[in-house]
Amino acid sequence: MTDLIQLQTELMARIDAAQDLAAVEALRVEALGKSGSISELLKSLGRMSPDERREQGPKINGLRDAVATALATRKAILEEAELDAKLAAERVDLTLPPPPERRGRVHPTMQTLDEMIAVFADMGFGLAEGPDIEDDFHNFTALNFPPKHPAREMHDTFWLPDGPTGERKLLRTHTSPVQVRVMQKANEKLPSWIANGQEPPIRVIVPGRVYRSDSDATHTPMFHQLEGLVIDRDITLGHLKWTLDTFCRRFFETDAVVTRFRPHHFPFTEPSAEMDVQCDRSGGSIKIGQGSDWLEILGGGMVHPNVLRNCGLDADEWQGFAFGLGVDRLGALKYGMPDLRDMFASDVRWLEHWGFSAFQAPNPATGLS
Ligand code: PHE
Repeated sequence: MTDLIQLQTELMARIDAAQDLAAVEALRVEALGKSGSISELLKSLGRMSPDERREQGPKINGLRDAVATALATRKAILEEAELDAKLAAERVDLTLPPPPERRGRVHPTMQTLDEMIAVFADMGFGLAEGPDIEDDFHNFTALNFPPKHPAREMHDTFWLPDGPTGERKLLRTHTSPVQVRVMQKANEKLPSWIANGQEPPIRVIVPGRVYRSDSDATHTPMFHQLEGLVIDRDITLGHLKWTLDTFCRRFFETDAVVTRFRPHHFPFTEPSAEMDVQCDRSGGSIKIGQGSDWLEILGGGMVHPNVLRNCGLDADEWQGFAFGLGVDRLGALKYGMPDLRDMFASDVRWLEHWGFSAFQAPNPATGLS
C-alpha cells in the first residue's frame, strides 16, 4: 500500500517536472509501457488470491488512471508551450519593409536600339529584318564584292562548315545583305505597307546582330548594326548627310554633337564615307560634344548601281543611299561605357549598373519611350 502511494507520489513529481515531450514519453514508457512499473503491478493481479485481488485491484487501477491522466495533462501543457514558443519565434513583423525585389533590366544595346528605331520611325523609316546565317550571295556577291577580290577579306568572316550541296554559309558580317533582300522583294510588288517588300521608293532600317572575328575595347565578335536604305528617284549625298546629322542630334539629345565624314571605300556604295563623332575618351569613360577624339560610328554612301542591278532594279531610274550604324558603339558613346566587351560578358553586376528600367520615362528627344 505504502509502496503504491510512494510510487504514485514519485511518478507525479517527475511528471510535473518533465521539461519536454520526450521526457513525458520516457515516463509513460517507464510506468505504463509493456514492462513499465504499473504494467507489472497490473500483471501481478493475476497471481493474487481473489481476496487480495479485490483489495489491490482498484488501487492499482486507480494508480494507473491517475498517472495516465497526469501524463496527458503534462503533455498538453508542454505541447501548448511549444506552440506558443514557435508562434513567437516565427512571428511576421508586418511593419518591416519588404526585401528588395530583383528586377530584370533592359540591356543597354536593346535600349539604344529602341531609341534609334524611334528616331528613324519619326523620320518615316519602316523596319525590315533578315537572317543571321547568310549565304555568300547576299553577304558579298550581290553587294558587288567581286569573287576572290581582296575586299572580301576586309571582313573577318565566320564561315560555317560546307553544306551537303557544297554551299558555304556564313554568319553575316554586316546588315547590308538585308538591303539586297529588301530590294529583291521590291520586285515582287508586295503591298507597300510590308516594309520588307515595298516597291521603290524604299525607306527602311534594319536592326540586327552581325559577326566578325575581332575583339578589343572597341570591337566584339558579335555586335549590333542598324542598316538604313533609301531608294528613290532624286536622292543625293546631301540627303544622307542630313539624315545622319539629324539622327545624331536627336539620338544624343543635343545639338552639340560634332560629326565628320571621311572618304572611305565599300564595294556596295560609291562614293563611300565613314562618319565619326567627336568625343573625349580621356577620363576612363566616353563623353560626346567635347574632347579631341573621334569614334567611328557608321559607314555609308550612295548605293552602287551594280547593287541596284544585282537586285533587279533599273539603275537609271532608281538611286539612293545606305548606311550601317554600330548600335553598341552608339550606346557606349551615349551612356559612357568605356569597354564594349563588357556589354556581352553577361556579368549581372554590370547589367544591373548599366541596364535600364523596363518602365522608362518617355525619351524627350522623340516623345517615344
Ligand atoms: N556594311 C558596312 C559595314 O559593316 C557599312 C555600310 C552600310 C557601308 C551601308 C555603306 C552602306 O562596315
